[in-house]
Formats: sequence, structure tokens, C-alpha cells
Amino acid sequence: MTTPRLDVHLTDADLTDALRADVRRGLTAEPKWLPPKWFYDACGSELFEAITELPEYFPTRTEWALLEQAADEIARLARAQVLVELGAGSAAKTRLLLTALTGEGLLKSYVPQDVSSSALLDSARQIAGEFPHLAVHGVVSDFTDTLHNLPSGGRRLVAFLGGTLGNLLPAERAEFLRDLRDLLDPGEHLLLGVGLVVAPDILVPAYDDAAGVTAEFNRNMLRVLNYRLGADFDPAEFAHVALWDPVNEWIEMRLQALRHTVITIRDLDLTVRFDRDEQLRTEISAKFRLPGLRRELSAAGFDTARTWMDPDSRYALFLAERR
Ligand code: AVJ
Repeated sequence: MTTPRLDVHLTDADLTDALRADVRRGLTAEPKWLPPKWFYDACGSELFEAITELPEYFPTRTEWALLEQAADEIARLARAQVLVELGAGSAAKTRLLLTALTGEGLLKSYVPQDVSSSALLDSARQIAGEFPHLAVHGVVSDFTDTLHNLPSGGRRLVAFLGGTLGNLLPAERAEFLRDLRDLLDPGEHLLLGVGLVVAPDILVPAYDDAAGVTAEFNRNMLRVLNYRLGADFDPAEFAHVALWDPVNEWIEMRLQALRHTVITIRDLDLTVRFDRDEQLRTEISAKFRLPGLRRELSAAGFDTARTWMDPDSRYALFLAERR
């Protein structure tokens, strides 16, 4: 078995620096907020894997079914030599794409990118074992500011699945899509998996499951702050909140202080007070409509070659071509 190569563009020290900056900015802001990438340490990545298996959390299995149906056509249209996967995580669904692309006979390498080195190393090893002819080249980085670190050479298909595009605010999303356009050459492809706008009584439980796994995932961010920055959060003192914002058409996850509390963040020399019931926003997860996303892609320089949607219109795959 060939061992996968792993390029680390984001060391542990870089991560801590980025976290320090985010925490200083976000916890001194009004209202308080933190970016969702801080969910994903090894424990958070495992909790997310558990979320994908919950009965309420339909996106992952819906995307899987769509990929099963679409993989051959994606492979035919993209004719990729390199599959780049942004936010690869455990890369479970990647097998479908890799198998289809291998069938086209052009694929040479797989480049999974993720912010979590633990999740990436596991998946890179597994894929390298299952696809021995494939060069596997993992990249540990933050996809929003390190696209230029992805290896080039060979016609690429960039897959950005799981609905993670929805974690970006609209302005960040536009910038990210433009950066992707700049990275790609005309004729190369982008495959997006996105959640669609659906009824709140279906959507909200997907982010507030009965077993409380999403609540633990949400609170895990406080644990990350505790061990990385010497903060003294008691996660049990924060309630999980998931709500649908009908104006912005996104799900918001928040942590709500059960009582007034003063938190010390030792490594930042910072104390932060939470009023009783004060909320800290930890994630937005935007949902899309087909025409809207098509317009956004077009504005960024992509033509939508093909879309796939499940029978309940809950989730979509977009295959877009760089103009
Ligand atoms: C991995 C960002 C797509 O927004 O659905 C799952 C993360 N948050 N449950 C999503 C998540 C709460 C997930 N993404």
C-alpha cells in the first residue's frame, strides 16, 4: 500500500493563533459569536460523524443517495484527473466519486483537504488502502484562506460536499466562490452539495436531535476553548439552541448561558461576562434555492452544468464548470 502524503499548512501553533484571534474578536463582540470551524477537534469530528447517523439529520444520507445516482454522470462530465475534496472529514461519500472517476480511467490522484488532521489522516489512509493505484495527497488547511496551497497539475474536479458552503456568510461565500474560480482553469469543475430551504419542522430537528448529540457537538466548542486557551467554561452551564432564521434562510446554532457567569480565558488575559440567557452564536448553516445558487455561481464565473435533487427537494448537488 502506498502511504498517503500529508501536507500541513496549518500547524497546531497556527490553529491556536487563529483561535486566539477569533475568540478575542468574537467574545468581545455584541452579540457574541465564534466561527464553526472550532467544533472540529478529534472529539468534535467524532460527534459530527455521530450526527450524520441520527434519524433527524437527513443531509448526509440524502447526499449519499444523490451521489450514488449521479456519480457516473459526474465522472463523465468532469473527466477529472485529480479529485480535490474540500472539508473532506471522514471522506465516506468520496468512495462513490472515486469509484466512478476510476471507471472513467483518467483519475490519478485524490487531494483531501480538512482542518482536522486526525480526521484527514484516518480517511487518507483508508482511501489509499482501498484505491492502491491512486496518489493520495492530504492537505491540512483552512479552506477559506489556503486554496492556493492545493496541489495543481491535471484536470481537476473540486468537490465541496456536505452543505459546508452554508457555513459561510453570503459575502464570504461570494468571495470563496470567486477564489475557487481563480484557482481553476476554464473547463475544470466544481461539485457542490447543499441543503435546500425546507419546512422548519423538518429542518430544526436536524439541528436539535432528541438524543442530544448536536447539543454535545455544540458544547464541544467550549471544551476546545478550555484546553487550547485555558478558558474555564462549564459546558453544562450552556444550553443548546437551534433556530431557523426565515429572513436569511439559515439555521443558527447558539449556546445560551443558563445563568450569569464570568469566564476567564487565561491565555488571552481576558474575562468575558455572560448575562443570564445571553447567547453565543456558533454556526450559521445557510440553506439554498436552486435559482439563487445558480445565480451566485454564475456571478462567480461558473456555469451550472447539471443539478440533482432528492424527491423531497431537501438537498441538491450542483456540478458547475469554470467559464
Ligand atoms: C458540516 C457544516 C454541513 O451545517 O449541517 C451539523 C454541521 N452542525 N449539525 C451542517 C452541523 C450541526 C453541518 N455542516
